Amino acid sequence: MTRHRIVNRLQIDHDTEIVRLIAGLRAQPATIEPKYFYDELGCTLYAAICQLDEYYPTRTERAIFQQYRQEIAEAIGAGGTFVDLGAGDCCKAQGWLPIVAPDRYLAVDIAGPSLDTALTAMADDFPEIDMVGLVTDFSRQLDIPAELLTERVTLFYPGSSIGNFTPEEAVRFLKEMRRYTRDGGLLIGVDAKKDKARLDAAYADALGVTAAFNLNALRHINRVIGTDFVESGWRHVGAYNEAAGRIEMHLQAAGRQTVNIAGLPREFADGERIHSESSYKYSRNEFESMLREAGFTRISVWSNTEQAFWVFHAS
Ligand code: AVI
Repeated sequence: MTRHRIVNRLQIDHDTEIVRLIAGLRAQPATIEPKYFYDELGCTLYAAICQLDEYYPTRTERAIFQQYRQEIAEAIGAGGTFVDLGAGDCCKAQGWLPIVAPDRYLAVDIAGPSLDTALTAMADDFPEIDMVGLVTDFSRQLDIPAELLTERVTLFYPGSSIGNFTPEEAVRFLKEMRRYTRDGGLLIGVDAKKDKARLDAAYADALGVTAAFNLNALRHINRVIGTDFVESGWRHVGAYNEAAGRIEMHLQAAGRQTVNIAGLPREFADGERIHSESSYKYSRNEFESMLREAGFTRISVWSNTEQAFWVFHAS
């Protein structure tokens, strides 16, 4: 028997998305939005990245959660609604549900089918919890229907996904999240600034999985708007820009390329780049200031011994 329900609030304006994508490809410098990484193959490649020796964030966050589970759960408090932003397969939340024991688990993601599969598999393990999936694109706007929320709301935003926003966008998003937390709070994972060599390796791994992840965006875009990018003509670039405090991922033309974009040729010079992602890294103080700017006043932080990653609870 199905014990969960799915609420669909996804409103994709395909025409606007396509206009934006074409404008980004024609711009100089050219850009694509990171969401084009995540077709079916891209999601599988991202899951593989999370298992790489070089890509420490996922495993470091998991270790911090495991080590401080009880302490963090006390900061969160029991009951209320546990909102999992970017829930995917819901596996990160599964460690929290038994200990936080919320009245409702609200898993939010743009991918409805994976939410449905995950909630179907989980529902029997948590008979006391109202299990709801909310399908929406919260990267544009956080839109949670009031009837799905209780007085206490915990927003859970793990994985350092906040780093994929610019700092200005991140503060704006933190403010939006703050509005929803009411009597509850925000539990968020944030990647820390660190040694350039370690960061470079995490985003340009020896097996080339991150390269495949980046190049796959071109395949995805070919399918979406009928461009004729040839992946072998492009190289993956993923490196830490120390001055800007961010990883920059680009696709770099290996030789001159002419790409047909919506019926018009776009020339790319040898070495020209398409920016595909930024991943900002923050010191503890930097991120704490952003949380305060967003209106949070009570802040706790946990890390590992080498302070490679931060877990903040803010209310
Ligand atoms: C999803 N996000 C937090 C990842 C990151 O580290 O910025 C995406 C990623 N890009 C390359 N590797 C992983």
